[in-house]
Parts: sequence; C-alpha cells; structure tokens
Amino acid sequence: MVAKITNYGTIITELHAPDRQGKNQDVVLGFDHLEPYLTKHPYFGATVGRVANRIAKGRFELDGKTHTLAINDGPNHLHGGLKGFDKMRWKAEPQAGAAVKFTYTSPDGEEGYPGALAVSVTMTLTEANELRIDYLATADQPTPVNLTNHSYFNLAGSGDVLGHELWIAADHYTPVDETRIPTGEIKSVKGTPMDFTSPQPIGSRFVQLHVKPVGYDNNFVLNSGGKGLALAARVREPKSGRVLETYTTQPGVQLYTSNFLDGSLTGKQGFAYRQHCAFCLETQHFADSVNHPNFPSVILRPGQTYSHATVYKFTVT
Ligand code: GLA
Repeated sequence: MVAKITNYGTIITELHAPDRQGKNQDVVLGFDHLEPYLTKHPYFGATVGRVANRIAKGRFELDGKTHTLAINDGPNHLHGGLKGFDKMRWKAEPQAGAAVKFTYTSPDGEEGYPGALAVSVTMTLTEANELRIDYLATADQPTPVNLTNHSYFNLAGSGDVLGHELWIAADHYTPVDETRIPTGEIKSVKGTPMDFTSPQPIGSRFVQLHVKPVGYDNNFVLNSGGKGLALAARVREPKSGRVLETYTTQPGVQLYTSNFLDGSLTGKQGFAYRQHCAFCLETQHFADSVNHPNFPSVILRPGQTYSHATVYKFTVT
C-alpha cells in the first residue's frame, strides 16, 4: 500500500490499496494540489476536531458554565467550527517504520472551546495493509474532545458506492431530528434501513430513509461499547474484491454517503465528485454528546489522557 498525508489538516491525500489481482488503486477522494484544500471542501481525508460532528445550537454546559461555539451548519456547530483541526497546519515528525506523528496545540478559547488542548495524531502504515491512526490529547481545563478522520472511500476507485456491501457491528443507532441532532434515543436497527448487521449494498434502502439529500448520514452505536479495539465495519466492493475493515476503540461510527457532493468539486485526475461517489466511516463519540448525559462522555479533564485508535485494514476476497 501507499499512503500520502499532508501536515495541513493531517489530510490523507492518497491511499493506494491492491485489488484481487494485486493492482493498486487510490481509494480515497481528494485533490492533486494544496490549493483546493485551502478553499471550501467537505473535510476530505482530514482530522476533524476539537469536537467532530454536531453540537446543538453550538451550546453546552460544563461544570455549571455555558459555552458558545461557532455556528457553521444551519443552527448548529459542526466538525470543530469555522476553522477546525482540518484547517490547521500541524507539526509532522517521522517515526520508526512507515509512520508520521502530527502534533497541534489548540489554544484556550479556539472556536469557543475552553482550555488549551495538546493533540497528537500518529498515522502508521503497517505490513498488514493497515492504516492505523492513534489519537492522544491532554487539556489544561475540562473540555469536550471528539476526534475522527473524515476520509471518503471508494473501493473501486471511481463510480458510485451504491453497490459496495456494508456490514456494521451495531444493533442500535441514534435517531436525529431534521437538523441532524440526536433526539437522545438509542434505537434498535431491527426492521429499519439502519440494519447492517448482515451485509447490504449501501444504496439498496436509500428510498426508505426519507431524507434530503438522500443517503446515510447517521451515527451507529457500536456493539463493542468502545471497550478496546474492535471490528466496527466491513465494506466489500464486489468487482475489485477490495475489502475495508474498520477497527476502532470508539463507541460510535458515523456513516456518511457523500450526500452533499453534487459534481461541482473536481478532484484528483479531473474527476468530478458526484453524490454517493464515496462513503465515510467516521469513528467517533455520538453527535451532540455534550448535551446528552445518557451518551458516553466526551469530556476530558486535566490529568486525564484522551486516547483512541482507528485502523483501516485492506484485504481482498
Ligand atoms: C459529516 C456530517 C455530514 C456532512 C459531512 C461533510 O459526515 O455528518 O452531515 O457535514 O460531514 O460534508
């Protein structure tokens, strides 16, 4: 495999994985140059933080104090705000083997978040065709933290992903309102289009979702409960035989099927990125956890260490 990563947003710009004939193909969306990454794009390949996903109305209470954050997604805060970790220049240090450690210190008050947060993201390409991402963070004041990687995968390397077969280790999901904020319920996937407990083509139940733009943009509650590194999802692309397994220590995964892409962004090799041309498996804590005491907590306190890992492993069938 080959991985190319930039210190701007720690963006994975290229990820080449073999098909069943051993032929390598770039399987992530992105751009050929830095410039388009500096303009508006939907978090292609980036580390997202300080808090990935949505925070209702950009407000939360912590230890009796109300904090207000940038609003950048309808009425809500999304993916760290106007200038999140995806738009920061990180320090890059090579590690032993095929690995790079990226570090960034988010100052107190950045995008409205309390306290300074020192973050490291180490990306390692292993001999087992895995891209492993290790996240560490410490804070000097209590603050919410929820880090993910926002890679857009297409295991065929082109076309749409509707026929990719997806399995997710989740018996439950978190239903959302019309602004994609969780209602607080943890619902069974049984009998719903959220049921990926047996492999299903990604696009086979889109019409049952009754959302616009159509497609998945939902958080799944992983059966592992976020206890240890566990298999969260498996995606198989029938033609190439490529299989992507996602392992994570996180309690949730946001499945996003690039519903907002509309062909107006031109990516690598001149490809127009159309709706449903990729899927994201954003391993993370649930959206708006800061406002839902029944969800696993995202609060990091001084003296504690935030530590999570996600592994994207490539095989073939
Ligand atoms: C996440 C969100 C989506 C969208 C994309 C980026 O997956 O859940 O609603 O904002 O990021 O476009």
